[in-house]
Order: sequence, then structure tokens, then C-alpha cells
Amino acid sequence: MRFRHCPEGNEMEKAEKIWMNGSLVNWEDAKVHILTHALNYGTAVFEGIRVYQTPKGPAVFRLREHITRLFDGCKVLGIDPEFGGKTYSIDDVIEAVKTTIKANKKVDYIKPCVFLSGEEVGLNPVGVPASLAITCIYMGSYLGSASTDGAKVITSSWHRPDNLCGPSGAKVNGWYVTSCLAKREAVRQGAKEAVMLNSTGHVAECTGENIFILRNGKIYTPQASECILEGITRGSVIEIARSMGYTVTETQLTRTQLVTADEVWMTGTAAEVVPVTSIDGRAVGSGKIGEVSEKIREKFHEIATGEDPKYDRWLEYVN
Ligand SMILES: Cc1ncc(COP(=O)(O)O)c(C=O)c1O
Repeated sequence: MRFRHCPEGNEMEKAEKIWMNGSLVNWEDAKVHILTHALNYGTAVFEGIRVYQTPKGPAVFRLREHITRLFDGCKVLGIDPEFGGKTYSIDDVIEAVKTTIKANKKVDYIKPCVFLSGEEVGLNPVGVPASLAITCIYMGSYLGSASTDGAKVITSSWHRPDNLCGPSGAKVNGWYVTSCLAKREAVRQGAKEAVMLNSTGHVAECTGENIFILRNGKIYTPQASECILEGITRGSVIEIARSMGYTVTETQLTRTQLVTADEVWMTGTAAEVVPVTSIDGRAVGSGKIGEVSEKIREKFHEIATGEDPKYDRWLEYVN
């Protein structure tokens, strides 16, 4: 069954079962009450995780790192991992993710979400019960043909919220309103993505991706303190690029450095590695996909699909 997340987006496919607080329920029965605290106030944390087909069967890319980040997010929000009367460990949630994948036919993306599920009016989150839902879908390519043809991006007029407004480094659902505003701006301008600056005017990241540049043969990406989500793909790409012999520096980047870079690419679980070919109507480098971004994109794909045994430790096999 196909569904479309936005008119400009690609179609995605629903799965059959969703895991909710320890039970597998049918897709159409995974419902919450209108007064759910998280629905009204954004009090939830989530993850986006990819499953790849490998020669050894389906494998989840860096599952432990994703679930650890989910638990870190719960800690930041003060949510205890108790769902449906049971306390869950990271290992329990890893198993629940695998169970959910096995219960569905066609899965390439998993979205676990911990949310304050109590029916509440009022901001006080203390004592409001939490739930965990694990949804699987078939997403395909998140940014469509941009993965292979290169993406046109804009700089958003919305800033990435800073660390004084809330936990920039956590995947808090309410935080994503800014990303949605920036994405709307991009789509309305015929672009695939939006780059968000932070409150000091430095480059932070895109709406759901981190960003890298290549200048004079060296790779740079905004450092963690620039109000970014420390992406798991970002960390993987830093390690891959270093092992390929490139110097990678986590630093502050200005908008000028971004638009005059020789190459630019984005990284994220949904998007994977996507070269950027234009920013605010200015061509990046030659305006064609850069050689380094292409090499990294290919290597990332090889690793994620189980074709490089050196990185087998990043794959959690489902069966
Ligand atoms: C705001 C934001 N930045 C960056 C990323 C990339 O993170 P990851 O590579 O862990 O998916 C994401 C996606 O989760 C995101 O939502």
C-alpha cells in the first residue's frame, strides 16, 4: 500500500505491523488519543534507521548507535524507558526492532518513537506515561534522483534552534517544526533541501541531514557545538573519509566557505550521501557531482550493503 508524504516527495510503502508497547498491531490500529501529551506539545524523541539487503540477509545499519541515541534523547527529556508497564533496556529495544522488521514484508526504514502518551492538558510532563512505537516502511530514495544527480539546496531564513532554546543534539519531535518550516521554504523554491545556519550565523546542517564541504582537497564539517544533530551517517562518513586518506576537520563554517566550496554533500540515514550541485542558485564547483563526494557515496553504499567485511561491525543482521 503506497502513501505519499508530500506532493513533491516520493511515494513510500506502508508495512503491515507496528510494534506498540510490546505488541504487534495492524498498521491501521496503531492509534493514539487526541489529547496525547506528545501530539500537543512535541514531547517525544525518535530515530530513523535504515535496513539494507546484504549477501548475509537484511542488516540494520548501526542499530546500537541509533537506539543508544534514542535512550540519550529520553534522558535529556527526562523520560524513563518504561512502556506498557515494563522497563526496557537498549538490548530489549534492539530486539523489538528486529521483531518488527521480521513481522513485515518489505522494509528499508524503521522509525522508533518514544512519546509521552498520557492524555493530558497542561505542560507538566512529570509523571505522564510514555509509550514506544516502532514503525517500518519502505521508503526508497528519500531525496529521489538527487542522490545520483545532485541536489539543489537553498539557505533557509529559519535558524537551527540553539542549545539555549533546548537540546539541539537530541532528536526531539517538537524540535522538528523548524526543520519542517525550512523544508517548506526549500520545496516552494523548487529545491530539494534547505541549509540552516545557527544563531551565530555559521552553517549548522540541513533539515534532516548533516553537511560536508571539500576545499583544496580537505574535508570540513560543522562541529557538534554548532547546534547540529551529531548524525550517525556523519560519524560514519568521517571515519570512511579518513580511512580513504582524506583530512576531515570538525569546525565552524561560514556561508561564504559553503558557497565557494569545491564540493558539498549531505549525509543522513534517510538521504544517505547526497551530493549538492547548487546553493541559492550558485553552482557548487563545476555544477556537476564532485569526485570526492561520489567516491564517498559509493563506499558508504558498499559498506551498508555488506560488501566490505572491514565494516561488518556496523551491521546488525536481522536473522
Ligand atoms: C536534523 C538532522 N540532522 C542530521 C541528521 C542525520 O543524522 P543521521 O545520520 O543519524 O540520520 C538527521 C537525521 O536523523 C536530522 O534529523
